[in-house]
Amino acid sequence: MNSKAVAVMASGRGTNLKVILESVTKGECPVDVRLVISDKGDAEALTIAREAGVPYVAHVDPKKFSGREQFDAECAELLDRHSCQWIVLAGYMRILSSSFVRRFRGRIINIHPSLLPSFVGAKAVEDALEYGVKVSGCTVHLVDEVLDGGPILAQSVVTVFDDDTRDSLHTRIQIEEYKLYPATLARMANEGFDIEGRQVIWKK
Ligand code: GAR
Repeated sequence: MNSKAVAVMASGRGTNLKVILESVTKGECPVDVRLVISDKGDAEALTIAREAGVPYVAHVDPKKFSGREQFDAECAELLDRHSCQWIVLAGYMRILSSSFVRRFRGRIINIHPSLLPSFVGAKAVEDALEYGVKVSGCTVHLVDEVLDGGPILAQSVVTVFDDDTRDSLHTRIQIEEYKLYPATLARMANEGFDIEGRQVIWKK
């Protein structure tokens, strides 16, 4: 099977990017990470991408664009230029414009540190703790115009302990993310899926 061309967009530490790249190197995930884009010049994700030999690594600086649409248009141009089939958001902390989502509909995936549809947004781990849930976890989902709202591809559950802090719970959620994200990408490449309503139906 041909590897699927993938771009990763990341704003921060890039640990999900790192495990995806490691999984590709080990031959466990048949995708080709051609492009990494970050909106933050100091994102560790950029260093990880360069050290792993990703062919094109770009810092696209939001300050150089007059608005979200213009910034996203520049990213879209890069994605098209590198013929990326899937766009993998890995700790990408910008909301995508609806024109970007429309242009790449069904091809953008995200990982979120809660069991969606609970606790959308940037403070998912804190919000889950504050609510007092006894389980949380992570979700890989398709991106649509609704914040953290697209069809769900995969989820993993993490038990919440009484003495958890934001950091301790996030650390255990990330351990699950590191298994779930590469495995879901591999499944997308190997099996594919259909969408019926909100439901993702895996082909095998
Ligand atoms: C991950 O926990 C991911 O689920 C979360 O940011 C972290 C990025 O970690 N994403 C979101 O909160 C998106 N709403 P990383 O930069 O080390 O991969």
